[in-house]
Amino acid sequence: MPSKKKSQWKTLVLGCFKDKNLTLESPKLVSKKQGSSRISLSDLSDYSSPSVISDLSNSLVGNVQIFTCKELKEITNNFNKSNFLGEGGFGKVYKGFIDDKLRPALVPPQPVAVKALNLDGKQGHREWLAEVLFLGQLKHRNLVNLIGYCYEDEHRLLVYEYMERGSLEEKLFKGYLATLPWLTRIKIALGAAKGLAFLHEEEKPVIYRDVKASNILLDADFVAKLSDFGLAIDGPDKDQTHITTRVMGTHGYAAPEYINTGIIVDF
Ligand SMILES: Nc1ncnc2c1ncn2[C@@H]1O[C@H](COP(=O)(O)OP(=O)(O)OP(=O)(O)O)[C@@H](O)[C@H]1O
Ligand SMILES: [Mg+2]
Repeated sequence: MPSKKKSQWKTLVLGCFKDKNLTLESPKLVSKKQGSSRISLSDLSDYSSPSVISDLSNSLVGNVQIFTCKELKEITNNFNKSNFLGEGGFGKVYKGFIDDKLRPALVPPQPVAVKALNLDGKQGHREWLAEVLFLGQLKHRNLVNLIGYCYEDEHRLLVYEYMERGSLEEKLFKGYLATLPWLTRIKIALGAAKGLAFLHEEEKPVIYRDVKASNILLDADFVAKLSDFGLAIDGPDKDQTHITTRVMGTHGYAAPEYINTGIIVDF
């Protein structure tokens, strides 16, 4: 598993994305594309504007909670080392616990995973926003549930349901003595495939672009859930046969024909 090399390729390409110019489609900062109810990144006239975020929070109301940095500090015991779960290209991930007083009646008491953007890293606001937009609107048993987010000054955090068994990568490759039984492997593969099928079959399809073992999280019953939507994009519309994109993904995982052409076809 090329763990160091893989993130290098991803972040190298992501750096190019930060200058992307998005078109102003209407005087409103957040608009919906005709014929679809899901808001996507390209619907935002200026995705770094604070007013876009506040419009967005109105649109996502009921789907995701907005947390303050102070609240997330409290639930992770001040981002304590003992709560540390791991680290990826976006930043560090900590375990936290939402009790019955934090969002009574809105979020049931539960353990969560809090991912904090590394302000010195290669990823940034755009990747954070993509995650909020996709996972804030797409809900499925095989996608990790985004419970909420925090947007304060330069801080960007994400709050997910806690996945007891961590990532598939850890189960397969990282000092896990007992091998996964074949039935469990099939269950995981099926779960991940159902998550992808859900994305592809949406009215406005989503291309995930980052399928790999570290992005497949496992709950206590080995139900697989796709996580990390920072690279996801909208797929071809009904009247399109394909889209052409800047090639993004993780070295060793992306399909060779996509790497060669940048073309994603509609099957
Ligand atoms: N919802 C979650 N519940 C439990 N653990 C999680 C959760 N999300 C992430 N983790 C753990 O945090 C660690 C880092 O995850 P993260 O998704 O940030 O990076 P990654 O997938 O390892 O790398 P990359 O940046 O290439 O996607 C992983 O070990 C993962 O198991
Ligand atoms: Mg990941």
